[in-house]
Amino acid sequence: MSPSLLATEDLGKAIEDAYPELAPVAAATVAPLYLVGGAVRDLLLGRGRSDLDLVVVGDAAELAAEIGATQPTEHERFGTASAVLDGHRVDIAAARSESYPEPGALPAVEPADDIEADLSRRDFTINAMAVPLQGDPALIDPHGGRADLEAGLIRILHPGSFRDDPTRALRAARYAARFGFELESGTEAQVREADLATVSGDRRRADLMRIAAEPEAVRALTLLVEWGLIEPRQGGLELAAAVSSLLSAPPWQEVAPRPESILAAALGPTGAAEELAALAPDRPSEGVGATAGRDPVELVLARAMGATWLDTYLLEWRDVRLEIDGADLIDAGVPEGPAVGRGLKEALRRKLDDGVSGRDRELQAALESARRGDGVA
Ligand code: CTP
Repeated sequence: MSPSLLATEDLGKAIEDAYPELAPVAAATVAPLYLVGGAVRDLLLGRGRSDLDLVVVGDAAELAAEIGATQPTEHERFGTASAVLDGHRVDIAAARSESYPEPGALPAVEPADDIEADLSRRDFTINAMAVPLQGDPALIDPHGGRADLEAGLIRILHPGSFRDDPTRALRAARYAARFGFELESGTEAQVREADLATVSGDRRRADLMRIAAEPEAVRALTLLVEWGLIEPRQGGLELAAAVSSLLSAPPWQEVAPRPESILAAALGPTGAAEELAALAPDRPSEGVGATAGRDPVELVLARAMGATWLDTYLLEWRDVRLEIDGADLIDAGVPEGPAVGRGLKEALRRKLDDGVSGRDRELQAALESARRGDGVA
């Protein structure tokens, strides 16, 4: 795919239009200050607003204070500050260079004297561009990111990139799927060598969750399988695709969170959902009983596995409630204790299965059951 890109000379205007909250930063004295990373990439692609990352060659906290950002929070280790500018979140970082003490470990960080050093520590050429926010806007693009964006290519900056930070392999899949891009051939050879085992489980999971949150999640997971980086459960990609379309529209859309559901479908575990999907309840109360206390992700997976009765559960049975409660039974003479619960349960069963409705008939059904079991007159 070759998208047509915004002309470089139009970048200044595009920044003004997309991010009016940045207007005051042009006058900042803590300088030089740049817009970097995904925001620059997305401006060139004409994709509108994205997360705002700024890099300053200087003190990030001082800059946050100077531009009147509210709620600045400092993160000492990386010299970064998060701030809210005119209602919008802005991440400000001091320019830095990084080195990796060992593969997959968090990097050792050092302040950098210029933006080029900061760009050269980044993941892909398309994410390694900057635009100065003071003076004339220009595209700082030492690694050919614009050309790669135009050609639809994901390219690492140096051969050791995935060894330093194997989570970049997960990011490569995310961007390739999102933009419909290919990996440049050298990058593709390298990605297949990436060793995700050197990264902590938490970091792997965090990047997999970011993948699963994207509209093209299944495409990204398929790439990771092709590259030999993840092993799906049998039929996992197909199930993930079914989950993805189930969650894209009502009535299932809001039932369970998309990232967790897609990852569980692709990678497991799915045992509990398989059990649920194997049921074929004869009566509504059986269906309600089978779903009671289940994690919503299990419901979504079981439905995606073909349990269509769960549609009826969702649309009809799930919201059935009694008009009476325990106090009504006690007022009618049932002693406090297990008989009350038993009566309510039976009334709900009869409401679900036999169409019993209205306070009087519900109470009658509840009392019959409560009294029968306890021998209460
Ligand atoms: N980055 C990197 N290597 C990483 C993580 C981040 O080089 N392992 C850099 C990239 O330049 C990226 C920027 O930090 O553009 C911000 O990271 P992130 O917010 O994760 O990415 P975005 O590009 O903003 O991606 P998205 O569009 O998904 O928000």
